[in-house]
Amino acid sequence: MKVLVTGGAGYIGSHTTLSLVEKGHEVVVLDNLSNSNPEALRRVQEISGKPVQFRRADLLDSDALDAVLAESTFDAVIHFAGLKAVGESVEKPLMYYQNNVAGTLNLLHSMGRAGVYTLVFSSSATVYGESEDVPLRETVPLNAGNPYGRTKEQIEDILSDVAAADPRWRFALLRYFNPAGAHESGLIGEDPQGTPNNLVPFVAQVAVGRREKVSVYGNDYPTPDGTGIRDYIHVMDLAEGHLAALEFLQEKAGVFRWNLGTGKGSSVLEVIRAFGEAAGFPIPHEFVSRRPGDAAVSYADPSAARADLGWSATRDLAKMCEDHWRWQRSNPQGYANAGSAAGQG
Ligand code: UD1
Repeated sequence: MKVLVTGGAGYIGSHTTLSLVEKGHEVVVLDNLSNSNPEALRRVQEISGKPVQFRRADLLDSDALDAVLAESTFDAVIHFAGLKAVGESVEKPLMYYQNNVAGTLNLLHSMGRAGVYTLVFSSSATVYGESEDVPLRETVPLNAGNPYGRTKEQIEDILSDVAAADPRWRFALLRYFNPAGAHESGLIGEDPQGTPNNLVPFVAQVAVGRREKVSVYGNDYPTPDGTGIRDYIHVMDLAEGHLAALEFLQEKAGVFRWNLGTGKGSSVLEVIRAFGEAAGFPIPHEFVSRRPGDAAVSYADPSAARADLGWSATRDLAKMCEDHWRWQRSNPQGYANAGSAAGQG
């Protein structure tokens, strides 16, 4: 298949691009590089030995989108491009609605003009808000608790309406739980700009000496060790979920929603311990107060994806930490000093 991947230079996008080219698909990546580095794509080509075409463009630039979609006949689009920092979305909601919602509208218009009707969308478990109805099934009412989450929820609604109005459209809405890990080569991985918001990249930066210690947000949750429980999923499992969804959409039109998670929850302390085991030394941490808006427990019921797609996560927390650590220790500054430390160790 010929696939356009928006946001393909980012964390999940680059790993999915790698899975796609390794399966023999032809990929064009469209990315504005606002939170990503083209070095990731150079490395995807290095790992796979396959070419990846790159077009630097913004989803808000309809002419650029039309031009890329007119270049050749695409079979499908996988849409990762978007802003994703919860705190920033509270401070700059218009920026989030503009980039994520208006950007997706532009993409849909351009796809329609080009006659491309298949899209896999990067949604998030954040659409469930603080629901305590765990394990979370796709049928739980959506209730995102912040502007970032609401952009995902609104885009899901838009795609559902579009599919209901025109039977040519095929949409997979993939609700990711907590992505972590890296490709096992250690050549590509997560490279957050500034202070990481999420747990695993923060732990990794402590392990590599960029930060002093992990702040554990709350140890008074109603969980066995008092810390929050999440469903951490290996980014390569996630990447493979996209391929499975793409294949499914070849057979069926309509709109489909799937949780991509492992179905298993791990506490903050379990993650810190597992990472320490992967690194070979304990990770310093301290307990601080809860982060507003955090649920105590969130993990997926991934049975729908297993039943419909024949997909399930195969990599566990230990593997996630090993792979994340291999990437981080070989690239202590991420892609910043591309070339100098890559692939060592
Ligand atoms: C967060 C976002 C969510 C987004 C997801 C993936 C919030 C409220 N939610 O989810 O919208 O879809 O990331 O990008 O921001 N923790 C610490 N110390 C840290 C960081 C996190 O103790 O420095 C804890 C949190 O309290 C939580 C767990 O680790 O219990 C995971 O946190 P995080 O990685 O931020 O993911 P989520 O909160 O699940």
